[in-house]
Amino acid sequence: MAEIGNDIEKAKYLLEQGELVAIPTETVYGLAANALNVSAVTKIFEVKNRPHFDPLIVHVPHAGATLRYVTAINDKAKQLANAFWPGPLTLLLEKQPVIPDLVTSGLPNVGIRCPAHPLTGSLLEVLDFPLAAPSANPFGYVSPTRPEHVEEQLGSKIAYILDGGVCEVGLESTIVGFDNGETVVYRMGGLSIESIQKEIGNVRVQVHSSSNPKAPGQLQSHYAPGKKLVVGKIEELLQLYPAHESGLLTFNKDFNSPYQIILSPTGKLEEAAQNLFTALRGFDKMPIEVILAEFVPDVGLGKAINDRLRRASAGR
Ligand code: TXA
Ligand code: MG
Repeated sequence: MAEIGNDIEKAKYLLEQGELVAIPTETVYGLAANALNVSAVTKIFEVKNRPHFDPLIVHVPHAGATLRYVTAINDKAKQLANAFWPGPLTLLLEKQPVIPDLVTSGLPNVGIRCPAHPLTGSLLEVLDFPLAAPSANPFGYVSPTRPEHVEEQLGSKIAYILDGGVCEVGLESTIVGFDNGETVVYRMGGLSIESIQKEIGNVRVQVHSSSNPKAPGQLQSHYAPGKKLVVGKIEELLQLYPAHESGLLTFNKDFNSPYQIILSPTGKLEEAAQNLFTALRGFDKMPIEVILAEFVPDVGLGKAINDRLRRASAGR
């Protein structure tokens, strides 16, 4: 069992010793280590059972710290950082040598993010190194949005979970990179495409998986819950799957089933996003065989929610 508390000094001490600490962010909980310490970062890969080809995001206390770790920040990146940091945005920028190759899986770019959570913000401010932190879940599983999610899956393997309550956004950060001057969204997430486009104009969205994805968050079967998940019209799916063996995941519809989870009874996408991963975990504990899910409206955060539903349903 990991200790759960809100002691920043304790988290700081452990991280300085090269240990791992789970940290809250506005998106999901991260499994953090000193990003500049190769043996500490190695532990992240071990604890998550994560393949070394999947690079880690580096977290900084404020936008100004970014220049210590990247060679340059282009104008679009600057504009995005100014507009959305601290917040659910990761920028892919060319790394400086101080960032170990292990962190970027040998890639020339590093993913940098300034998270918006008061506890983790304070922690980053008192550290003299940035934090490498993937989501604090075993590789391939749903990301944790509450401290107890981390405890359930990784509690036996880490010393401390910094308790920052429920993650406000509930979806991982949106990953943005630059390809020959073009801005590219590689992972949809807690910052909507519309918000980005309002700030810097049109962007290319390239989130579909390939065998060698730029962001392994693009792997199709990522973000999978423990049970088989099927997405479609629930009324139609119920003709194919017996109701007493089916968990129902709806946006706002009420099917009066004991095994249903409604993401947002009032139909709000922000609320649905915040509840999504807790809901997916909730079905693991129900006596059901399959999760029948419906897409949410495909606008704003709805696009990222639908992306996660699609991935959760893939490859099973
Ligand atoms: O919201 C988030 O981004 C959370 C919190 C903890 O900050 N972190 C997170 O990390 O979701 P992770 O490792 O679960 O997902 C990060 C994704 C991975 O799929 C990784 O491959 C991609 O970001 N990524 C990181 N660095 C990259 C790089 N240098 N080039 C391409 N993709 C990168
Ligand atoms: Mg992850």
